Amino acid sequence: SIVSPLLRTGYHFQPPMNWINDPNGPLYYMGWYHLFYQYNPKGAVWGNIIWAHSVSRDLINWIALEPAIKPSIPTDMYGVWSGSATILPDGTPAMLYTGIDRPNINYQIQNIALAKNKSDPLLREWVKPGYNPIAVPEPGMNATQFRDPTTAWYIDGHWRMLVGGLKDGRRGVAHVYRSRDFKTWKRAKHPLHSALTGMWECPDFFPVHEAGVQNGLETSQFAAKYVLKNSLDLTRYDYYTVGTYNNKTDRYVPDDANGDYRRLQYDYGNFYASKTFYDPAKQRRVLFGWANESDSVPHDKAKGWAGIQAIPRKIWLDPSGKQLVQWPVEEVEKLRAKPVSVANKVVKPGQNFEVTGLQSYQSDVEVSFEVSSLEKAEPFDPAFSNDAQKLCGMKGADVKGGVGPFGLWVLASANLAEKTAVFFRVFKDGYGKPVVLMCSDPTKSSLTSDLYKPTFAGFVETDISSGKISLRSLIDRSVVESFGAGGKTCILSRVYPSMAIGQNAHLYVFNNGETDIKVSHLTAWEMKKPLMNGA
Ligand code: FRU
Repeated sequence: SIVSPLLRTGYHFQPPMNWINDPNGPLYYMGWYHLFYQYNPKGAVWGNIIWAHSVSRDLINWIALEPAIKPSIPTDMYGVWSGSATILPDGTPAMLYTGIDRPNINYQIQNIALAKNKSDPLLREWVKPGYNPIAVPEPGMNATQFRDPTTAWYIDGHWRMLVGGLKDGRRGVAHVYRSRDFKTWKRAKHPLHSALTGMWECPDFFPVHEAGVQNGLETSQFAAKYVLKNSLDLTRYDYYTVGTYNNKTDRYVPDDANGDYRRLQYDYGNFYASKTFYDPAKQRRVLFGWANESDSVPHDKAKGWAGIQAIPRKIWLDPSGKQLVQWPVEEVEKLRAKPVSVANKVVKPGQNFEVTGLQSYQSDVEVSFEVSSLEKAEPFDPAFSNDAQKLCGMKGADVKGGVGPFGLWVLASANLAEKTAVFFRVFKDGYGKPVVLMCSDPTKSSLTSDLYKPTFAGFVETDISSGKISLRSLIDRSVVESFGAGGKTCILSRVYPSMAIGQNAHLYVFNNGETDIKVSHLTAWEMKKPLMNGA
């Protein structure tokens, strides 16, 4: 079948063609943001991986440079896999990354590459010092599950980095390595943390300011609170905990030590192998994450490309101290054009209305809802406390409720045969406390067959007693990236409409509950196309 070129994203990061996966080594250097990423120069499927390299002044307009790191030494000859950036005390940027050193088996070894010329703001050339590798699997370690070094941090004369691993076949671990000189590294006896979750890919570990402060902290700065994130290859989600770090013992303890390790996700949708960096220009911590296609492999090959990066998100600790908040970097707002607004519009049970006056296939939509009453909220079945996704799979956008489902239909065809629903549904628990569910339901997104259309969902820890809740969706042809309640719960979905493409895509507000919903305010903008790697 033919795949429409109009489904290629407009303002989400991607190279002109081919496969991409994890963001690697993001950093800010001499006025430029750098993004490296796992890239196959030869096709739209995973393989032949190198580190491609792009630079940006604003995290939105991107210029492609020559690939930065390719296989070239015995310890990375069969692959240069994910890694992270650290700026050394003399100002030299360093990349810690995983190399594959033998054919046909993914035996994993940690390496370092250094910026060749630190007076080049574009960091075009990278050299691999002769003291590579810097860490190899030890006897008894699983050598094929040992990868993705983090940004290093410095305390009392020692650098530390983490390497993700797997112990005893099922325990995910974050190994700690220490070094005085950034050349000779030794593994600490105890990992930073571990849990019975399966392999930890792409660990990320960073300090955060006290609850509610939006500024970020440099990775070596000590703080009362830390975040540890791991990517679970078993579920393909990025999970994090908030906790404390003892920098004498190099151990991390989640605040909710007996809680479910998989309770909090950066994103409850298609978002994986993410990585943060500290941006000194705007004193913020910024998160990059990879969103894979959910189209079929033959379609990916026909399109000639696969994979995008989510819009970079600023990330900080929520006022509750219990979770993070994420919000698209403010620079994305420079792309906004032709605002269309709606105010104080009531949507009755079973009703919907179209937001007209803009092309919404490439848009940014912000909406504030007000629920008239919580009285009719459905009872919450505690059996679903750990399974928002299952609950939303059963109670999709077309299943009538008490309070909600209400929200947006995006990338909708004129006859509504195709539409992606992003919405809230409010329940009431046994104590009468409201429980808010946020869903991204793509089950009606396309009439094309062979698509993977998982319903994604997360709970929203927000006080809805006032009736108020907000939603923002970044819509971009085959991406719907949504932020509930100001960024407390985020869901990215990939969808491939067959009719709701380009000018044939429509935007609606709907209410499938028994309770009136008011759109207190809605603004939708068309989004201009930024520089995107020359494509
Ligand atoms: C995560 C991952 C990493 C690995 C890289 C290889 O998506 O599997 O663990 O380093 O991708 O491309």
